[in-house]
Amino acid sequence: MLEQFKKEVIEGLSKITQKTLPSKYFYDKKGDGLFVKITRLPEYYLTRAEMEIFQEKTSEIMAALELDNGKKYSVVELGAGDGSKTVHLLRELIKRNYDFEYLPVDISSNALDGIKNFLSTELPTLVVKPSHNEYFKALENLKQDGTIKIILFLGSNIGNLMDDQATEFIYQLGSSLYKGDKIILGVDLKKAKEIILPAYDDNQGITAEFNLNLLDRINKELGSDFIRANFIHAPVYDEEEGIAKSYIKSLVKQSVILENHEFNFEKDELIHTEVSRKYDDQVVKQILSRTDITWEHKITDDNNLFADYILQRN
Ligand code: AVJ
Repeated sequence: MLEQFKKEVIEGLSKITQKTLPSKYFYDKKGDGLFVKITRLPEYYLTRAEMEIFQEKTSEIMAALELDNGKKYSVVELGAGDGSKTVHLLRELIKRNYDFEYLPVDISSNALDGIKNFLSTELPTLVVKPSHNEYFKALENLKQDGTIKIILFLGSNIGNLMDDQATEFIYQLGSSLYKGDKIILGVDLKKAKEIILPAYDDNQGITAEFNLNLLDRINKELGSDFIRANFIHAPVYDEEEGIAKSYIKSLVKQSVILENHEFNFEKDELIHTEVSRKYDDQVVKQILSRTDITWEHKITDDNNLFADYILQRN
């Protein structure tokens, strides 16, 4: 675990043209807490917009899923979250007497405990089977269980992947499923820079804290000597490309030591830490075109900020 982290950090900071650090390492205990704070920021519209879809358009989602009362379903959520969006769909499934179980999958047992507790009070009759596992291992274990799968991958979590990785991800998802299984894919939509950039550069500096926490984590866990005050959060959004990118910018010419490695930073040099892909129908189509998954429905919030695509395995 620590060895892998170290290897990826050294690899990323050794790159000649563009230094990088992987965004998956944002999420230590501190980072988890900061992300929750981000979802409540006035500038970070994504979570609220998807909440609106699950809360106000539950019937639309249900209709798009085309469920059958005689069949048995598994609602599998990749990345457990806190359950506050999913609870609306689960409540409706119970109300309409569908035969199903809910299986949140996460590598954080903390998140799984939280969601289990939340749902046991919200929906006491619901069967919750948390899976403390990697996504595709969990899906492999469920593949032969005879239920129809409804996979939830929400919150624009797919946005942290470049398009070729997203295609690979959806392709692999397809091979874990059978014909007729469904996917609800939540993605942030392309829109004006004036809306997107503040979502990654909030006034209170929480997102900056979230990004720069990576340096603290490298110091703490790998024993390096980044001076936090010598770096700032520097996000950009290019409307043409449709990808928000976060960088850490070195304010001065400096060097940082990690074991027997010395990394040199020029003044104003950037470390690329995260991509947040913004989608439109064309991007979705292009990603799905090389997979066994097709697009059935698209449900957006009233302001057209966010979309949940209902997809199906062929
Ligand atoms: C969790 C990947 C959806 O990209 O919007 C929030 C992470 N990064 N602010 C996103 C994030 C900076 C978030 N996702």
